[in-house]
This record gives sequence, structure tokens and C-alpha cells, in this order.
Amino acid sequence: MGEITAVNTILGQGDPTPAEKLGYDHFMLKEIHEQPQALRDTMGMWLTGESVFLREIDFQSEKIRTLEKIFIIACGTSYHAGLVGREALEKLTGLPVEVDIASEFCYRDPIIPPNSLIIVISQSGTTTDTLVAMQGCLERGVKVIAITNAVNSTISKKAHCTLYTRAGSEIAIAATKSYVTQILALIILALHLGAVRKTIEEPQYRGLLKGLNALPHQVQQLLEQAGDIAELAQRYATHEHIFFIGRGLDYAVAREGALKLKEISYIHAEACAAGELKHGTLALVTQGVPIIALATQPHVLAKTLDNIRTAKERGARIIAVGTAQGRGLRELAHHLIEIPTTHPLLSPILTVLPLQLFAYYAAVKRGCDVDKPRNLTKSVMTE
Ligand code: AGP
Repeated sequence: MGEITAVNTILGQGDPTPAEKLGYDHFMLKEIHEQPQALRDTMGMWLTGESVFLREIDFQSEKIRTLEKIFIIACGTSYHAGLVGREALEKLTGLPVEVDIASEFCYRDPIIPPNSLIIVISQSGTTTDTLVAMQGCLERGVKVIAITNAVNSTISKKAHCTLYTRAGSEIAIAATKSYVTQILALIILALHLGAVRKTIEEPQYRGLLKGLNALPHQVQQLLEQAGDIAELAQRYATHEHIFFIGRGLDYAVAREGALKLKEISYIHAEACAAGELKHGTLALVTQGVPIIALATQPHVLAKTLDNIRTAKERGARIIAVGTAQGRGLRELAHHLIEIPTTHPLLSPILTVLPLQLFAYYAAVKRGCDVDKPRNLTKSVMTE
């Protein structure tokens, strides 16, 4: 131990400290279990009992009220957090939000209206693709907010303002606690912007605050199911292909679940929007193929159940992730992982937990080097 140390200064949980596994077999498992605290620490900076306060956002209220469009730019897991954040930002600010992969954004010459807000997300704060995309935006004179876990990182120094996640050191190459805190930061930012723009109804604001405050405890509850998820992952770890499906926010989380599984277990994992299955991927669904089906979003539940049923009829083994409200899911699933009920916009922070654990235990079963998967680095400093 001690061979890996954090590159930048990381806030939260008494950092900076030398890397220690504290009795866990791997840093990744330790970091998964640190998520309740990471959420508490991140939330603690911006939530008072009754409201959200982001002193870091020093733009004039007028600037916020006249915004035309929001762009979110990031890579990998941070990009997936952006896909989740888009929904909260659109719903709570009434603005169109585009989410881009940084390495694509900078070379497609995007149309950026002058009153745009750019949000760049990077755990490390040093990812070159994200930096290059960000530089292009700064040169056009648009406002840039960074969301990062690393104080004084290049990205935070270049941005007009920074929201620091308090995830603490994340040593495992697979991002876990940084992802949930990035989503949290985006939701809190959406609440802040929506409150200034007066695009949020009071009951919705209160409901989301209540939901946010309950999250750390709910994540803790989910972590108590780790043993069951380990059994499930061990059972399916010999498969070479696993599919993830979902609609809306569940599809965004499915993409993160697939990334996590492939990067550490080397199982080929693919996320498919549940409604898209029938447009091609269904051809790969044969007897015994595992499908991890996410079904937490009430407004698309019936449609998702139809898609799951179709896959099951083709022989798929269904591992479902849903809430107690998800009527019909239990009957369809071969295995059901139940997540606590929360506001639909917040559910990704819970839904991803079983997927992280599934990836972790599958990788351990396959004898993979969980913390240091082949060919990958924690900070990607090349284009
Ligand atoms: C996720 O598990 C990966 N390690 C990777 O996708 C990562 O999220 C990506 O490289 C972006 O890194 P950043 O957040 O530090 O910019």
C-alpha cells in the first residue's frame, strides 16, 4: 500500500491522506461504501435545512435569468453524470440542455448562443479532452462552471467558478463516489438556477430538498444488500455479454452500469435504450443472455415492462432494478433488486449502487485487477 497517491488536493473526509484500503479488499469497494459520507459532505456545503445556497455562483441574477441554453461537457463516467443532470436542469430551469462527449464537442464546431452556460465535469480536473473543449468555450467568451473533485486542478483554475464535490480521494480507476457526487452537484445547481429563474414550483423545491436529505441513509440501506448482489454477480460472471436496458434516467444509469462492468470485469457490456432493443440489439438476445433492466421511472414503467417482456420471451434472464411501486416488475424478473423510493430525478444516485457492486463482484470472481484495469489510467492526459 502507499504506492498510489491522489494527484490533486481532494476535499472531504480528512484529505489529503495517503491511500489506505481500511480493511477493504480493494479501493473500489471502499469507495463504494464511502458514498453515503461523500453525499453528506457534498450536500453539507450547499444545503441548509430549507434551501440551497451556492455562493460559488457569482454571476448576476440577471445573467441567470437571461440564459438561453446549457451545455454539459465531460468524458466517461463524468459524461454519464451529465446525462443524468440534464434531466434535472431542463425540468427545473426550463432551458434546453445539450450533453456532449468532450472529445467530440471540440471538433464539431457547435453552435453556442452567446447567453449560454457551459458546465464541465471532471473528477480529476485534468482530463485533456475536457480541457480542450473547455478552452474552446472560454475563447468564445461564454461562462464556464466546473464540477470537479480536485482543488486547484487545471480545470478549476480555468473555469469562471467551480463547484467542488466532496467525494474524497478516489484511488480506484473505476469512478464510483465521484459519479454520485457529480450528479448531486448538478441537481443542486439546477435547484439554484431554477430558484433564481423562478421556474420551480415551491412544492417541487421542497420535495426535492427532502429527497436529497434522505439520500445518504437510503444509499446506506442499499449497501446492506451487498451480499445478495455479490451472489448474483458471481452467478453471472461467466457470461461474456451482458446487456443493460432502461428508459429516460434509467437509460443514463444503464450506460454507467455497462461502462463499470466492462472496464473492470472485461465482460462485454452494452447499454441500450429499452425502446431501441427491437430496432436491432434484440437480435443478440438468445436463451440465457443476462439483461439488467432498470425500471425506476414511473412515467415510462409500463413501456419498459413491455420491452422487458419482449426480451424475456426471447430467452433473456432478467435482473431487474426497481422500486416497490414498480408493479409488474417482480413477476417479470428472474431476480429483483429493490431500491428505496425517492423523487424520480434523484433515483439514479440509488440505482447505480447495485450496478457498481455487480461490476465489482463480477470482476473479483473473474480474477481481474479491480483497482487497476488493463490499459486504463485515472487521469487521461492525452487526446
Ligand atoms: C470511469 O470509471 C473511468 N475511469 C473514466 O471513464 C473517467 O470517468 C473519465 O476518464 C473521465 O475522467 P475525469 O472525470 O477525471 O475527467
